[in-house]
Amino acid sequence: MRTFGCQMNKHDSERIAGMLSGMGLEPVPDDADADVIVFNTCCVRENADERLYGQVASLKALKLQRPGTLVAVGGCIGQRDGAALVARIPHVDVVFGTHNIARLPALLAAAEQHRAPAVEVFPSSDGDFASDLPTLREHPWRAWVPITLGCDNFCTYCIVPHVRGRERSRPFESVVDEVERLRADGVSEVTLLGQNVNSYGRDLYGEPQFARLLGAVAGTGMPRIRFTTSHPKDLSDATIEAMASHPGVARYLHLPVQSGSDAVLARMNRHYTQESYLALVRRLYAAMPDLALSTDIIVGFPGETDADFEETMRVVEACRYDQAFTFIYSPRVGTPAASMDGAVPREIVQERFDRLVAAVQASAFEKNLPLVGTVQTVLVEGPSKRDDRVLAGRTMGNKMVHAACPDSTTPQALAGTMVDILIEDAQTWFLFGSVRG
Ligand code: 5AD
Ligand code: SF4
Repeated sequence: MRTFGCQMNKHDSERIAGMLSGMGLEPVPDDADADVIVFNTCCVRENADERLYGQVASLKALKLQRPGTLVAVGGCIGQRDGAALVARIPHVDVVFGTHNIARLPALLAAAEQHRAPAVEVFPSSDGDFASDLPTLREHPWRAWVPITLGCDNFCTYCIVPHVRGRERSRPFESVVDEVERLRADGVSEVTLLGQNVNSYGRDLYGEPQFARLLGAVAGTGMPRIRFTTSHPKDLSDATIEAMASHPGVARYLHLPVQSGSDAVLARMNRHYTQESYLALVRRLYAAMPDLALSTDIIVGFPGETDADFEETMRVVEACRYDQAFTFIYSPRVGTPAASMDGAVPREIVQERFDRLVAAVQASAFEKNLPLVGTVQTVLVEGPSKRDDRVLAGRTMGNKMVHAACPDSTTPQALAGTMVDILIEDAQTWFLFGSVRG
C-alpha cells in the first residue's frame, strides 16, 4: 500500500488495509513479493499527481515478470480519472473512487476472474462513512475519526470539492460512539477529520455543532484530541472556548490562511480578509497564550503582485506560526483559478517562496525557544529514527521531542503513553529534553 496526500487518505488506507487483511493478505515491504499493490492517491497539487503516474507506470516490468500481481489505484486520482487511468496505464487492474473503498475486495476478485481491468467510480456526491469497515491502524494508540466528508467551500484553486463531493456530516452519536470504542481499545489520541471541521453538522442539524462535538468527544476521557482542518471563516468563539476549557483538546490549531492579501483572498473565494483573520488569531492567543498555530500558504496564485506577497509576509510575522506548509500554486484542470489570467513567472514565485520559507523557519524557532526550561507532557510514538534508546513523541502543541529513554524501559514499550519531559534544548523542528520522574 502506498498512500499519498492528506490525513483523510491515511485514514482511508487504514480501512483498506483492514479489508485486505480480512481477505487473508498481509503487508510486505517489497513490491516484488506483493500479490496486490494498492495506491491511495492525491491530486491536490501537480507533483503528487505526476509522482503517482510515474510510480504506477514503473510497475510495468514487474507486471511482465509476475502477471498475477494486481495493481489497484484508488483515492482522488482514481475518482477523477476513472477509466482514463487504465487507458493511460494498461497494466492497472483496478480503479476505485473515493466512495468505492468498501468495494475493493470485489473489484480485485472481478479483475482476477475476468483478467480484465475493473473500474468503479461512484459520483462524488454519493458515498457514506466507511465507519463500519474494519481498520488496521498504523499505530494501535492513534486513530483518525472522520466527522465530515467532502467540502462546500469551492476555493477557486482547489480540486477537493470536485473529487470528494459536497460536505456530508457524520451523525453526532456515531462520532462519539466511535471515540468511546477507541478509548476502550486503548487509543490515546484521536484526530477528528474533515476538510472544514468547523462547519460540522450544518447539513444535519441546521447549524454547525463542532464546539458541542468537541466537548462530547472530550467527555469520553480520550487523553488527547486533535482536529483538522479549520476554515477561518467558520471557526467560532464557542470552538475557541471548547478548546480552552477541555484539557484533553490539543493546544494546537491548523488554520490555513493561504494568502495575506485581501485581493488574492477574494479571488481565492476564501470569505475573510487579512484583518478578520488576524483578529481571529488575536482571540485565539488571548484564550490560549500557549497555543501552537500552523497554517497553509500558497505562493504565486494568479495575479499575485509583489505588494500582495508582502501582505502574506506581514501575516506570517504577526501570527507567530509554529509551522507553515508552503505551496507553490499549481493549476488544477476544472477549477476556476486554472483559467484566471496573471500567471506569475517561475523565478519570481521561487524567490517569494524562498523568502517565505526562511520567515517560517525563523518563526518556528522563535516559538520553540520559550519552551526551554518548561516541562511538557509528551505522547510517546516510539524510538527516534537515529537511536533506538532515544524516545520520540509529541507535545500538546504537536512539537516533536527527543529524550533519552529511562534504563528501566524501552521507547517501544512506552509508545502510546504520556511522559513528562523537561525541555533542555530547542531547534527549528525539534525539542530535546530529559524524562522527569
Ligand atoms: N496549488 C497549490 N496549493 C494548493 N492547495 C490546494 N490546492 C492547491 C493548488 N491548486 C494547498 C492549500 C491547502 C492545502 C491542503 O493544499 O494550501 O490548504
Ligand atoms: Fe479545498 Fe477550500 Fe475545501 Fe480546503 S476549504 S478542501 S482548500 S475548497
